[in-house]
Amino acid sequence: MVERTPAIRIRREAASDIAAINALNRLAFGGPGEWQIVARLRQAKLIALSLVAEEKGRIVGHILFSWLPTRIDSREVAAVALAPMAVHPDRQRRGIGSQLVREGLKQLPALGATAVIVLGHPHFYPRFGFSAEMARHLAGPFSGEAFMALELEPGALQGENGKVTYPAAFGLNS
Ligand SMILES: CC(C)(COP(=O)(O)OP(=O)(O)OC[C@H]1O[C@@H](n2cnc3c(N)ncnc32)[C@H](O)[C@@H]1OP(=O)(O)O)[C@@H](O)C(=O)NCCC(=O)NCCS
Repeated sequence: MVERTPAIRIRREAASDIAAINALNRLAFGGPGEWQIVARLRQAKLIALSLVAEEKGRIVGHILFSWLPTRIDSREVAAVALAPMAVHPDRQRRGIGSQLVREGLKQLPALGATAVIVLGHPHFYPRFGFSAEMARHLAGPFSGEAFMALELEPGALQGENGKVTYPAAFGLNS
């Protein structure tokens, strides 16, 4: 069971949070890869939603959703990628990550997003409604049980042949 942390406040990032967000990503992932992705997505103006979890004025969690070019049967889909997400190593497994995901999914429809795509742990994301089955027809650099999707708008990902094109900011080749 995940323990609740009532003192956590989830809010959108402010410009003054950027250094703390970068430091948190570096700490949670143990290296620079993810904060560099965040920085490149920011520079490319691809960020759809960036939320932080604040505890006693300190940023202890961060989640990023960025616009992810997606086509299904020659139709454009307003999809976003969920990545990266980080919780301070001392504050993990208290439900903060889950609160960030849930709040993101709540806010995204008003921003125009109709679907969310994630490469993540198959044990974690299905609890929010993500499934590998929903992403099975989406060609791209990833596949398998860790490549999952969720529709914010019913039917958004319906179709036969889809393709997701990860922006160069992710540092992938396809
Ligand atoms: C993944 C992460 C954001 C989860 O945040 P959190 O606040 O610990 O998550 P919650 O407390 O809401 O949920 C805990 C659940 O996440 C799962 N979980 C946590 N880290 C995980 C990981 N690296 N891989 C798989 N599952 C993980 C736990 O198994 C737990 O599941 P349970 O409730 O069935 O026991 C956090 O552990 C983290 O920052 N990890 C390092 C960075 C990372 O791997 N980010 C994800 C890839 S973008």
